[in-house]
Amino acid sequence: MASVVTDPSGTFLALQLASGTYRFHAIWLRDNAGDPQTRAPGNGQRLIALRDISPQTAISAAEIVGHMLRVTFAPEDKTVDYDLDWLEANAYDRAMAREPGWTGPGIETWDADLTDNLPVGRFDAVQSDLSARRDWLAKLARYGFAKLEAGPVEDRALFKVVDLFGHVRETNYGRHFEVRTKVNPTNLAFTGLGLQAHTDNPYRDPVPTVQVLYCLESSAAGGENMVVDGFRAAERLGEENPEWFDMLVSYCARFEYAGEEGVVLRSRRPMIELAPDGELIAMRFNNRSFAAVTDVPFDKMETYYAAYRRLGEIIDDPAMEVSFRLEPGESFVVDNTRVLHARKAYSGTGKRWLQGCYADKDGLLSTLAWLESRRPEAAQ
Ligand code: FE2
Repeated sequence: MASVVTDPSGTFLALQLASGTYRFHAIWLRDNAGDPQTRAPGNGQRLIALRDISPQTAISAAEIVGHMLRVTFAPEDKTVDYDLDWLEANAYDRAMAREPGWTGPGIETWDADLTDNLPVGRFDAVQSDLSARRDWLAKLARYGFAKLEAGPVEDRALFKVVDLFGHVRETNYGRHFEVRTKVNPTNLAFTGLGLQAHTDNPYRDPVPTVQVLYCLESSAAGGENMVVDGFRAAERLGEENPEWFDMLVSYCARFEYAGEEGVVLRSRRPMIELAPDGELIAMRFNNRSFAAVTDVPFDKMETYYAAYRRLGEIIDDPAMEVSFRLEPGESFVVDNTRVLHARKAYSGTGKRWLQGCYADKDGLLSTLAWLESRRPEAAQ
């Protein structure tokens, strides 16, 4: 049985549920009221600003009514009901101390062991069946990449992949870009060389958060695609040497691309980015566009480079990599804020033609959350 006790000050209450006791502040409860004067019934948007709530707001009465907590606030003399499940799901009265570099719920870091369990979906099913789409997007969110098989072999089919979850991010490379051997390449990605695993375009701010690579032709030997979990690499660096981890978190790197007429893209961001509470939120790693670092103090620069070198060694470690070959009609999607990708060298005979484009994680996570919010029986 749920019960509630209000502190004599009226500034907070303690709600006892089967799973534990949770304290909630008067100001928090009042701001999160769901009544139609506070939140628009249609879209759920808040209709008031904090300035509309008295700083003297206090709880004058609280009781359990059925499966609701009923709270009356002074000085407004306003009574609001809260669903107990909602309160439990949004409780903030819990231990929050975590080591820097923790990852959020739903994130699973991985290494080469994932090779035998590739996150993959079939194009037709993911396109036509919403529960299959939900499952594929859930894998993409959990592991930071996912493959899609048996798609159409046609020019710009990659846009049909983006349509599954979001919108294309157009850049100076166009709405999409071609990845194949070129004479006089303006960017090393268009040659037959192998590339070190990297995140794309760290010189942009904001960076494109999703990349799609779609295979249309693949008769050249080699050229396998390879991905590395940047979050796992950061975790390994932190376990091996916390000081080096701290270097790459605390100081900004610089990235630059000015390889074509009319374009000078620059950014100043850390290689390993943490939220203020230590959550690991992004990786940037790209040897080709790494610019002169000028934001590390003189007496720290050698340590910074030692940390950068070690992170690169971890990323190059075959124990970290998952490799797969893309056949025509196959594609993969990466979370470009987390998972590094690379291509192994391929021979000059035969052809290899991929098309790539950028998109963003907001659309991906929005589509996933919407699909997950639907009742299972309605997900078809
Ligand atoms: Fe790339």
